[in-house]
Amino acid sequence: MSFRSVFIAVTVAFALILGAFLVNRARPKIETEQPTADFVRASGKCAECHARLQYSVVHEYEMSAHAKKGITCLDCHQPADGQKKEDHHGFVISTHLTAGNCRSCHESIYQEFLHSRHAAPSWAAIYGEKGLSPEQVAFSEQYQPGGTKRPPHPFVTAEGGAAMVSGCEQCHAVGKPNDDGTIGSCTNCHSRHTSSVALARRPSTCGQCHMGPDHSQIEIYDESKHGVMFAAQERLLKMDADPKTLSTRDMFVPTCSTCHMSGINGLKRPNYLRAQAKMKQVCAQCHTQALIDRVYSQAEQVVAGTNAKVTDGKSIVDGLRKDGLLNGPPFSNPIDFTYFDLWHYDGRTSKHAAFMGGADFVQWHGNYGLLQKTVQLQHDAAELRRAHGARP
Ligand code: HEC
Ligand code: HEC
Ligand code: HEC
Ligand code: HEC
Ligand code: HEC
Ligand code: HEC
Ligand code: HEC
Ligand code: HEC
Repeated sequence: MSFRSVFIAVTVAFALILGAFLVNRARPKIETEQPTADFVRASGKCAECHARLQYSVVHEYEMSAHAKKGITCLDCHQPADGQKKEDHHGFVISTHLTAGNCRSCHESIYQEFLHSRHAAPSWAAIYGEKGLSPEQVAFSEQYQPGGTKRPPHPFVTAEGGAAMVSGCEQCHAVGKPNDDGTIGSCTNCHSRHTSSVALARRPSTCGQCHMGPDHSQIEIYDESKHGVMFAAQERLLKMDADPKTLSTRDMFVPTCSTCHMSGINGLKRPNYLRAQAKMKQVCAQCHTQALIDRVYSQAEQVVAGTNAKVTDGKSIVDGLRKDGLLNGPPFSNPIDFTYFDLWHYDGRTSKHAAFMGGADFVQWHGNYGLLQKTVQLQHDAAELRRAHGARP
């Protein structure tokens, strides 16, 4: 019996109203086994109300792998260890769900996630160790040295509360420490009810956060040959292929996850060790060694050139500080911003673009800015020295 018919069976009262929604809707057949009474209770009952209140929530769930496997609404919504309980129309649910509500069934993925930069280091990039337990900090530091044990970012005080919550946190809370003792959220990449690998494999899912001048990965991807091919051939890719057997026959054009997360053709998933050799193995699933070597040797030269320009910029600013010409906290002098833009925007972008096939970002959003800001720094430094009566 399909979920839909169970749903209707247990909700005779609403059948007519719902019928109007359902009749004309082409929907994938959900092949569930005969659902248990518990399933009917814990999903049918919830859906009875929520299909009326938030149709989209119930519909996304119905289409998910979870519904097909008989995972109920309550399986996720019941309070996990350490969560506040709330009475809810005859059920007890948690008021706030976290990675803790997924971990009960996906413990090994949760552990994989904890090792990654999407866990504690993402949060610490804004707030430092705040909210993290000493054990959590120590754990993450083993795999991402320097990622978590650090002070809050200077922008936290410079920009303040609301900008942090509605800005930085929207992206960096993927690794937020939760009240129940877990870290992070799984739904940034999988959504709450769709819970799909197909969604997580889409570049735009990563592009929610990996965008903008300081980490233009989605823009770089979109203009790379890979991004162009993806746009042209997405329909032909098997975006929902089973992760255990994922191959280049399913995904013959790479998305972000193919290179960074998937472990295609039986390659071990890239883990916290971001070994370049591993990435070259990923390229090798689709390319010849000669092409890969050419891309890497060119990109390594861009990295070396960029690092040299950033070092030059840094020595100008460090020199001014050392000579007492720059005072006050970080980001209280215009030149701090010029230098920040130089390394954080132009420098980082040009390096990522060189590896990921974004010529425009190597040049116009990368090296051009490096050159322009280097001249600006030299000019501003000379002015400051002149103003202080020193020799330029
Ligand atoms: C008798 C109807 C009814 C049933 C049964 C029901 N709910 Fe609700 N639920 C509601 C109403 C009404 C709200 C409040 C909606 C609003 O604020 O717009 C709500 C709110 C919620 C919220 C949001 C809570 C919050 O504070 O943000 C969640 C999550 C939720 N329900 C999940 C469930 C789950 C899971 C089940 C089954 C285990 C369930 N509900 C069963 C009627 C129901
Ligand atoms: C895979 C786990 C999972 C399943 C299964 C699941 N939910 Fe949810 N649901 C979540 C998560 C995670 C949230 C976000 C809660 C939060 O922000 O604290 C959520 C949020 C909600 C909300 C609030 C939505 C909003 O946008 O305000 C409602 C209502 C809800 N779920 C109802 C249901 C119902 C009804 C079912 C079954 C038909 C269901 N959920 C099945 C994980 C799940
Ligand atoms: C009660 C157990 C249970 C809970 C809780 C649970 N899952 Fe699952 N999940 C499953 C099962 C079972 C499957 C199907 C596995 C399979 O087909 O091999 C699955 C599959 C998935 C998939 C793969 C879907 C696909 O497209 O193939 C994702 C992604 C996923 N879950 C994410 C989540 C997230 C995120 C949460 C928490 C919000 C969560 N799950 C909570 C049991 C659970
Ligand atoms: C649009 C999403 C988004 C917003 C908003 C955002 N970040 Fe980020 N941030 C990212 C992503 C994605 C990365 C990783 C990209 C990379 O490594 O290239 C990152 C990287 C960083 C890093 C470097 C990595 C590290 O661990 O040191 C720092 C520091 C940082 N962000 C701080 C902040 C602060 C502070 C704010 C708010 C003032 C902020 N970010 C706002 C998405 C965002
Ligand atoms: C940064 C994005 C991101 C986050 C955060 C994330 N995932 Fe995933 N997840 C993915 C991608 C991408 C895949 C597909 C990998 C592939 O192509 O095989 C995946 C695959 C999965 C699968 C499919 C089964 C498997 O073995 O691969 C499950 C289940 C899953 N994730 C659960 C979770 C849970 C639980 C969390 C939270 C602890 C989580 N994910 C956090 C991106 C993410
Ligand atoms: C909710 C926002 C968000 C989403 C969605 C997201 N990321 Fe991230 N990602 C971040 C943040 C924040 C960091 C920076 C963590 C740090 O270093 O502090 C990061 C770091 C990374 C890094 C490591 C960078 C490094 O310096 O080691 C890679 C690779 C990455 N993300 C890939 C992905 C891929 C692939 C996806 C999609 C499957 C994805 N991300 C989805 C926010 C996100
Ligand atoms: C063809 C493979 C490929 C694709 C597709 C790809 N990347 Fe990359 N990415 C790389 C390589 C190679 C690097 C250079 C560093 C490395 O080897 O890890 C890199 C660097 C990065 C970094 C910086 C990591 C660091 O060490 O500082 C982030 C973050 C990132 N990519 C995210 C993404 C996102 C998000 C997407 C999709 C919008 C994407 N990548 C698509 C291959 C790829
Ligand atoms: C899943 C398969 C796949 C993976 C993995 C992959 N690519 Fe590609 N790549 C393609 C496809 C498909 C094209 C475009 C088709 C063509 O022109 O042959 C392409 C095109 C390119 C091009 C443009 C070639 C040209 O002259 O037009 C470069 C450069 C490239 N890839 C580099 C890389 C690098 C470097 C990696 C690893 C970091 C990588 N690719 C990983 C499938 C892949």
